[in-house]
This record gives sequence, C-alpha cells and structure tokens, in this order.
Amino acid sequence: MADECVPVIRYKELPEGPAVVLLDQTRLPAEEVELVCTDVPALVDAIRSLAVRGAPVLGIAGGYGVALAAARGFDVADAAEQLAHARPTAVNLAYGARRVEAAYRAAVRSGVGEAHAAARALAEARALHQEDAEASDRIAEYGSALLSELVPGGGLRILTHCNTGRLVSGGEGTALAVVKAVHRAGELRRLWVGETRPLLQGARLTAYEAAEAGMAYSVLADGAAGSLFAAGEVDAVLVGADRIAADGSVANKVGTYALAVLAGHHGVPFVVVAPVTTIDPDTESGSGIEVEQRAAHEVTEGPWAGPMGTGPGAGVGPGGGSAVTPVGAHAYNPAFDVTPSALVTAVVTDEGVVSPVTSGGIAELCSTSPGR
Ligand code: MRU
Repeated sequence: MADECVPVIRYKELPEGPAVVLLDQTRLPAEEVELVCTDVPALVDAIRSLAVRGAPVLGIAGGYGVALAAARGFDVADAAEQLAHARPTAVNLAYGARRVEAAYRAAVRSGVGEAHAAARALAEARALHQEDAEASDRIAEYGSALLSELVPGGGLRILTHCNTGRLVSGGEGTALAVVKAVHRAGELRRLWVGETRPLLQGARLTAYEAAEAGMAYSVLADGAAGSLFAAGEVDAVLVGADRIAADGSVANKVGTYALAVLAGHHGVPFVVVAPVTTIDPDTESGSGIEVEQRAAHEVTEGPWAGPMGTGPGAGVGPGGGSAVTPVGAHAYNPAFDVTPSALVTAVVTDEGVVSPVTSGGIAELCSTSPGR
C-alpha cells in the first residue's frame, strides 16, 4: 500500500466506534478528503455515489462493511445483502461481502460468541485487502512481461480508459499497475488517458495518479480516440474489468467496447487486466452481465455534479451540476459496456495470462486458481 498518500480505504476504531474510512473519490483531484462511514447505509451511499469505486476496492469495501455490521451488532445477513447489491456489475463487491459474511457465519457456528465472530469477520476483510495488494504486484509482473512480448522495443504509448490504479485497489491497481511497472522500467513513452465521460474517472483520477507517478501523460476527450489510432499513436490499450464472464466477455466502463473495436481495426493489442476474483464463472456469457444504468443528470449536467459544475453563472441542475442540455432532455447512461472476447488480445490476471481469450482458457485459469 502507498503509505505516503491518504489511504484509499481503511477500517478504523474511532472514539465513536468502528468505521470504514474512505478517500472520497468524488472530490479528487481538487481535494483529498476522507469520508467516515459508521454504518452500512452510509457505506452503501458512498458506493453508489462513487466515493469508493472500481472493482477490486469495491470488494474490499463490501468486506469491511460486513465486518463493520458485525462489530456494531447490526444484522450481518442484511448488511451483506445491502452491500452485495449496492452496484450490480462489479462482481468483486458481492464476492467481498459474501466472503466476509461466510467467515462470520462459520465463526458463529463454531460457537465462539459474537465478539469473536466479529473479530473473525474483520480478519477476513483485512486478509482480502492484503491479498488484493499482493495480486496487484503479480498482475504488474505478468502484464509488463506480456507487453514486452506483444510490443517489443520499449517506448510504449499506452491508451487507457477509466481509472484502474491505486484508487481501485489494496495495491497499485490493475491496468494502471502494469503501466506503472512499464514506467518504472523506463519503457513508457506516453500514457494516453481517455477522459471517461460522464464522470471523468480518466481525467480526474487516472491523470491524478499519472501525475503522482511522474509519467508523461495526455488526457484526451473520449471522441478523440479514433484519430489517435488513425495517427498510429497507440501501441497498446490496457483497461480493467468489472466482470469477466465464463466466455471471456468483459464488462468495463462504458466506452471500452468502442476502444476494443478501434484497436481491432488498427491491429493494436487490446489487453484486459483484472484480478482473478473479477472472473465470474457463474455468468456464462456477456449477455448475462447486468449493466448498471445510472441517473440522467450525470450526462445532462456536466462535467461533474460537484465543484466544477457550480461556479458563478452556472445553471444548476437537479444533480447540483451545471446543465449542458435543454431542460427535460432524456439521457442514455449505462455505466458499463460489454466487449466480446474476440476483440480481447489477452486477459492478464494475478494467476496468469489467458491468450487467446476463450471459454476453455478462462475455465483452465479458474480451475488452477485458489481465488476462484
Ligand atoms: O463506475 P466505476 O468508476 O466504478 O467503474 C470502474 C471501472 O470501470 C474500472 O475500469 C473497473 O472497475 C476496473 S478497476 C480495476
């Protein structure tokens, strides 16, 4: 974990009792402010408002949330249910909540008593947090080795989408952990950061992490990606995933599919990077992945329903941001899209690389992985 920075997530004993404390990602990059959640509804709100976001850290949040419920004497089954369903697409959220719930239940069944069961739940959540940090290191190793095979010669220009770094992880992240390893090896020429409309996870969060790491980076409007490929400026695309189905289809931040099509058209490797816990063998194919639909105001007000949208002269919309559309405009706002496996060059996980991406390859990885 990066100690010098405000921790992304932690479980803390405060004078008023235990809490899950989050770095509020809705306030970045303007300010590093922590959000204290002392109960499960507050944590569910933080998850839904994207104060904490990104698949792996959602799993950690789900786990700590269940541990918090156990420590405070709330209904643990209800807490696990609320947390597991706070957002529907990222499979890690339910995985984290259910795993810690199972540890708690097993402790209760063994007759150790409520206080010990709560301690066991917290230990499980902490273990999950630590495992994710370790997974991140292995992902970075596998991913950077793969890139040197796919694009030999260094001097890489990598395009990424959304945010997949330390803000989404117990460690350095997924796709961005690979980029950071490439950068440390002196092999990164430029990181192209897709802004990631409507909530700007790329422009706000990935740019923040790229600057923090001292990378050469440029932010581009999502619509500029096509001309960047056409100009021959992209050597590889690296993205994360919210859920990978058994057939290798990948749900990730909306806009990912368009990048995969562009990469395929231009013969550029398109690499998905995720911990093995993001693979959901129970979802057979991409069509079985539930894609979260979000509020219209995220699109009709821009660019973020926060400080940027509320400056002098801004017309303030119902979400608190400045309206950019005529009053009453409808919006299409899926949070994610699904990329078919045929467009994915490789899936990099902490347990190894699947390439080509087939049902058989995914099944084989899962069969040898303790995380799945
Ligand atoms: O809506 P978000 O910000 O939670 O979406 C996050 C993403 O789509 C990430 O790319 C994904 O969770 C992978 S993070 C390692």
